[in-house]
Amino acid sequence: MLDINRFKSEIIIESPGRINLIGEHIDYNGGHVLPAAMDKKIIFSLRKNNSNTCEILSRNYKNSFIVDLNNLLRSDVEWHNYILGVLFHINKLRPGSIKGFDCVIESNLPLGSGISSSAALECGVAKGVNELFDIGLSDIEIIKLSRDAEHTFVGTKCGIMDQFAVVKGKKDHLILLNCETLDYDLIEAEFSPYKVVLLNSGVSHSLASSEYNIRRNECNSALEAIQEKYPNFQFLTEVPAKVVKEFKNVLPEKIYNRALYVTQENKRTLKAFAFLKAKDLKNFGECLYQSHQGLQHLYEVSCKELDFLVKQTKDLDYVLGSRMMGGGFGGCTINLVHEDKVEKFIDNVSALYEEKYSIKLSSIITTISDGVRKV
Ligand code: GLA
Repeated sequence: MLDINRFKSEIIIESPGRINLIGEHIDYNGGHVLPAAMDKKIIFSLRKNNSNTCEILSRNYKNSFIVDLNNLLRSDVEWHNYILGVLFHINKLRPGSIKGFDCVIESNLPLGSGISSSAALECGVAKGVNELFDIGLSDIEIIKLSRDAEHTFVGTKCGIMDQFAVVKGKKDHLILLNCETLDYDLIEAEFSPYKVVLLNSGVSHSLASSEYNIRRNECNSALEAIQEKYPNFQFLTEVPAKVVKEFKNVLPEKIYNRALYVTQENKRTLKAFAFLKAKDLKNFGECLYQSHQGLQHLYEVSCKELDFLVKQTKDLDYVLGSRMMGGGFGGCTINLVHEDKVEKFIDNVSALYEEKYSIKLSSIITTISDGVRKV
């Protein structure tokens, strides 16, 4: 195994996690999302090793593995696949561009918490290799190949939001991303006197990846049924709620609910963005609550622990909004909390949560940072 104490890196890369204010499960439906990069990161130290293999060491897992660049195949170990997938897709785009290297990885991003440690890992490796071997990949190439790695090597058919936020994030800004065209607007993340607080439920249900892919398929079947009558709609987010409602008695109830959620959430994201621009934080916060309602009852990707955390905030006049964040089935809630009450909020909810589920809640007061970069 690499001797960490003697490891001399040529390049260091910082790759952040992401938050998402609103627009959940919308990216793969071609709509709008509002994410940002955060200040929790994965750090990569890389150096060339003049061979045809790579050694990748995780300080967190305290183990390493060897990659044969002539034989880039899927592994049985999940975290290896994020890296193998990225190397495979870079090699496909620029054959022979990657030579042997060693890499030490250290993360302060909690895993399985809905803050996309996966995209941070993928984009960090891609950026690191790109810099180390001067491959000349563009940001968009890094974003897309990282997503492709997750599809093909990890098996989650994710959208593009996480990789986009991790690469294009800008300090103190939110990204309003059109996931169909990849056009985006940056808006200052101005929530004062409120703070963006994440509460980590500490649960990570194993359903996350399989149910994620099921939701994608459900959205596709809703769209296909709608296209039979309205062939011009290319994405579910383009279908107005009024049109979706025509299919109430045509589609199976579950599929109908998924479609209704998607069209409503996309509209809500644009509305929320307008509230934010108008500095109307109260109505912005209300959109977060509505988003959670939809995720809980129509899209069904929440879980009892997340619902509990959101519910605790409902009667607190110093919380403007709260909802589950990310893919769901565990992970974090995102909350807008008055800065004077943050400590009290965390203490109170933690006590209630521990009493109910015997799980210690952890929290993150978010600072929005730049995307993946060489330091
Ligand atoms: C995960 C996926 C994203 C997105 C979110 C839900 O984080 O990686 O592409 O679909 O879930 O909004």
